Amino acid sequence: MGEYGWINDPNGFIQYRGRYHLFYQHYPYGPVWGPMHWGHAVSEDLVTWSYLPVALAPDRAYDQDGCFSGSAIEKDGRLYLLYTGHVLTGSGPDEYRQTQNVACSDEGFVFAKLPVNPVIDIAQIPPNASKQDFRDPKVFQSGAHYYLVIGSNDCRRDGQVLLYRSPDLLNWEFVNVLAKGEGRLGSNWECPDLFRLGGRDVLLVSAQHVGGDALHNLHSAVALTGKADLAKGVFETDDFQALDDGFDFYAPQTTLDDKGRRLVVAWMDMWESAEPTRTWGHHWAGAMTLPREMILKDGRLCFKPIREIEKYRRNPSAWHDVGLDGEIELETGGDSYELQVTFEAGTAVEFGLKLRANETEETVLAYDRAQKMFRLNRDRSGRGPKGERRSAADLADNRLELRIFVDRCSVEVFIGEGVKVMTARIYPGRRATRVKLFSKGPCTVRSLRKWDIVTRTIGQGEERR
Ligand code: FRU
Repeated sequence: MGEYGWINDPNGFIQYRGRYHLFYQHYPYGPVWGPMHWGHAVSEDLVTWSYLPVALAPDRAYDQDGCFSGSAIEKDGRLYLLYTGHVLTGSGPDEYRQTQNVACSDEGFVFAKLPVNPVIDIAQIPPNASKQDFRDPKVFQSGAHYYLVIGSNDCRRDGQVLLYRSPDLLNWEFVNVLAKGEGRLGSNWECPDLFRLGGRDVLLVSAQHVGGDALHNLHSAVALTGKADLAKGVFETDDFQALDDGFDFYAPQTTLDDKGRRLVVAWMDMWESAEPTRTWGHHWAGAMTLPREMILKDGRLCFKPIREIEKYRRNPSAWHDVGLDGEIELETGGDSYELQVTFEAGTAVEFGLKLRANETEETVLAYDRAQKMFRLNRDRSGRGPKGERRSAADLADNRLELRIFVDRCSVEVFIGEGVKVMTARIYPGRRATRVKLFSKGPCTVRSLRKWDIVTRTIGQGEERR
């Protein structure tokens, strides 16, 4: 969560001088989207975060209506932020123009916007690219050059990514339209990211107004795998997949850390989704997912929760070889914990868990044998948005392995060693803390381990203890 107010996309995710920095789209004056600032937090282990003062505020002619999403890079020991300046040009919210801008810091704390801004103006947008949707630069270095991938569309409701190149982060030339959706992946692409992983190139995009079988949300974070030719500016796509099969995972951004991990964080929310925390006496909205490590396995992306979270486990409990046919309730519950469960399917037609449960509420995680589908149902999850998401998953040796992170108003489920992940915001009542196991037909819970997860964030001016 932000320290206060509204947050959306993660921005400028980077490890700089040994600490992880995470910036984010932020409206500090209320729990609603408004003129965007960049909030800022730092962490040594990706779990305990300290809030820092707002890094960017919309205070220049070229960003007066918002400092939109962007990214960070270190150059000559300094930290550079590349971001989109958003300016309204008419009376409606759909009349705007967007340019790319740079801010710089000597120590990663106070940022100065450069006098040369904007570094990419609308005159540098190529033909066949929207003159207004031109945002979310992700910067990276390759050889002697810096590159930017920027979200765009072709003016005919097809999302695309533009590639720019620079020798110095200040002077940019357009290279090419790197990739297009070809009608399959939505009307506009936001928040692109490009990196190498496991010998392949991966292009992430947040695609607006998608639909169809593979992607269940109206706006979806998608990973294209293939091969990038930076000199020509061409990305050949072999395959694509959703990054997360749940409800709330958008605008992900990655960074490579000094342990060689490709880490991804996403906004754990969704546009047009109800957020009860706005009005529920809390006055905040928006959260980030747990950071996840991305791995390419047999051509498919897999996700592992960062191992640092394990240091925050408390009060362990464990069960082994429990026969199940019907429903049982665990003696332990809670509202912030990790569960690791291995089900052996037996002859059950469906089995799973009910979390954050009481007499009237529950969040259901279940595996449907016949359909080979894992489902997450939040119809009875409390006062938030409802619905179900399904994800195709095979049993391995007739077993299903789950790793689940529950928090006050979220659940993140890693299925079968992270081949699929499902993330959802849920808003159960304070006393909905029970955990149940259920099965239609006999199955066995081979092992179940549970830990409370106890974390804290450190406010501005608060002492680190
Ligand atoms: C994605 C997005 C970005 C934009 C930002 C504005 O969620 O729409 O394209 O930069 O949010 O807050």
